[in-house]
Amino acid sequence: MRNVIVSEHAGFCFGAGRGVDFLEEALKDGGPIYTYGPILNNAHVVESFEKRGVRVVESLEELASLPKGKVVIRSHGVSKKVYEAIEASGHEVIDATCPFVKRIHSIVEKQSLLGETIVVIGNPKHPEVEGIVGWSTRGAYTVQDESDIEKIPLNREEKLCIVSQTTFNRNKFQELVEKFEKNGYNTNVMNTICDATNVRQTEALELAAKVDVMIVIGDTHSSNSRKLYEICSSVCRNTLFVQTVMDVLGKLPEAEGTIGITAGASTPKYIIEEVQSYVRNDF
Ligand code: F3S
Repeated sequence: MRNVIVSEHAGFCFGAGRGVDFLEEALKDGGPIYTYGPILNNAHVVESFEKRGVRVVESLEELASLPKGKVVIRSHGVSKKVYEAIEASGHEVIDATCPFVKRIHSIVEKQSLLGETIVVIGNPKHPEVEGIVGWSTRGAYTVQDESDIEKIPLNREEKLCIVSQTTFNRNKFQELVEKFEKNGYNTNVMNTICDATNVRQTEALELAAKVDVMIVIGDTHSSNSRKLYEICSSVCRNTLFVQTVMDVLGKLPEAEGTIGITAGASTPKYIIEEVQSYVRNDF
């Protein structure tokens, strides 16, 4: 048997796990079940739910054409407009927005009502950021790097409420905030970065540095999984990026050694367990 160490915080973060639990609960009651966008960034999980009758809905128009059922809002959350439209559509809303994201929605709504200009530091194309922007009553600017700051027509008299996408890099967030402050803006900074990503990355780095082979499990479309792969590869030359156990078959070196395993935020436990048990016994 090989020596295998699985990183403690591998896989689902609190919000992603909660989203899946809500969906599982909804399935128990029967009737049409929809998720507004894929529940997770993991094709295997989405497919297995589809096989059980869950339909991924991509737009309000599509939702309007479907028989009434339950709509699960995933952990990323949605804008206020989308939330209200789903409610008004006659479907039952099951809100699985991560509470940490919900908190950003309420900060943005409240501070924008108080007249502050909202700046969201994050990727403007990410659904979480689109949702956050949509809770401001007076629009919002998104900033991803320094050049974005130069482009926005801000008035130095305005009070800026700066929040962050939950998965944004902490150091980069700090640098951008400092840039706003150096430029003389009046800021109200709310660091809304979630620690789950940080903890997972730090643990993965420490583990990858001490093992002979490191395995990162995640979907190729999941940016946090790809980031984990990058981090692990920087300290462990033998790092594999796999989606399921099938990708590990025949890839492990024959020699004895310790194997480390970590997984992205949308990788379910059963996939981690399958890889773990294969790796332990394949010799
Ligand atoms: Fe929530 Fe943090 Fe995960 S914000 S969805 S627990 S990464």
